[in-house]
Amino acid sequence: MRGLRLGKEGGGKTKRVVSGMRPTGRLHIGHYFGALQNWVRLQNHPEYDCFYFIADWHALTSDYADTSAVAQNTIEIVTDYLAAGLDPQKSVLFQQSQVPEHAELHLLLSMVTPLGWLERVPTYKEALENVKDKDLHNYGFLGYPCLQTADIVIYSEEGIALFVPVGEDQVSHVELSREIVRRFNGFYEVRLNAAMLLDSKNAEIAEAVRNKYVVDPNSAYSFGSPISSEEIPIAESHIRSVIHQVGLENFLETENKLAVFIVVNRVLEEPQVMLTQTPRIPGLDGRKMSKSYGNAIALSESDDDIRKKTKVMVTDPARKRRTDPGNPDVCPVYDWHKLFSSQETLDWAAQGCRTAGIGCIECKAKMADHLIQWIAPVRERRIEYEKHPARVLEIIDAGSKKARTIAQQTMGRVREAVFGWEKKRKEISGDTAANAD
Ligand code: TRP
Ligand code: SF4
Repeated sequence: MRGLRLGKEGGGKTKRVVSGMRPTGRLHIGHYFGALQNWVRLQNHPEYDCFYFIADWHALTSDYADTSAVAQNTIEIVTDYLAAGLDPQKSVLFQQSQVPEHAELHLLLSMVTPLGWLERVPTYKEALENVKDKDLHNYGFLGYPCLQTADIVIYSEEGIALFVPVGEDQVSHVELSREIVRRFNGFYEVRLNAAMLLDSKNAEIAEAVRNKYVVDPNSAYSFGSPISSEEIPIAESHIRSVIHQVGLENFLETENKLAVFIVVNRVLEEPQVMLTQTPRIPGLDGRKMSKSYGNAIALSESDDDIRKKTKVMVTDPARKRRTDPGNPDVCPVYDWHKLFSSQETLDWAAQGCRTAGIGCIECKAKMADHLIQWIAPVRERRIEYEKHPARVLEIIDAGSKKARTIAQQTMGRVREAVFGWEKKRKEISGDTAANAD
């Protein structure tokens, strides 16, 4: 990994963070406080290597019928990532579809993922019920969590822990990823060391393995021969299913004589939840902030639009007249003050609100001043990159190359674990060499 500054050998980092967003359009301040702020913090943390991507394939799981905006939206999101402070020198910023290994791993994971696990995902059931303007009864949409798992664990590397920064509502998705990985590893990570078992020095244990895992262990017959090479895959498969039930550690503990004959090849890392507390930032109308509700402030919003939009923002509904005292704790404007204003302004707003000393118009205008101050440097960076979209492309292309180097290494291990082609090829070329003599 020299030159990449990644991985244990490259930079000595033992933790890795992976996250992404679908390219649905320009990002807003809800995205910033809900995710990006934390991503920036992690990129500046000495312990983590960060991988942040645009999930353009995931956009297709729902928008397959009209893909006309995906390319431009991808550029918009990268531009917003950069505007928010993500730095291509510190984080790997990339595009999912430029790393086709995500798709190959997704295919292999899909082979072992039970349908029931996917059908039970709460967000899946909700979307099927609630989304009426498009048909979501598709194979790809059901497989969303499987692709998401591939996105994360394709960055598995031995000795490096994988983290997914998520809010409370996303924890179950990472849990599902862990289940899928566990199942996958259960099938492919354990092998018997055939050469050792076939060695006549180990005839005794080879016979025990054969009795227990090839021949019916409850059978009354005694089988006095060691295991043959044809029987090894049968034993392997039985051992895997036992391990699947009792767990690898327990298995190795009870079968301690067998332990030296078992090769465990950690293929994929189980990702871990990194729970992040994010501040509350409701939309202009008090509902969850979302572009589709028209209640968001984009990271690229102009000062004029910020003023216009915040003027009509929802406040404490009980404060109908200027003379009614209000409660800042139930007011979205005050939630925003907490993010953008100084302590002094906060005290002024809370005190003025409770005593009807200030009006909501004044209060909102002051908040807008601070929001505008906050957004200025973000928007400036954004405008710089907007002027140079080719630079944005370069960043995403270079990041995708870096990501791909690691993804390819992982796929090499995964393919070998699933198919064992390298081993097979060696066997065959070994045979031909022997025959040629
Ligand atoms: N599901 C995320 C979203 O809705 C995007 C995503 C795809 C993702 N793969 C991921 C997030 C892997 C974290 C990790 O935008
Ligand atoms: Fe909200 Fe400010 Fe009006 Fe109080 S004064 S209700 S905090 S906008």
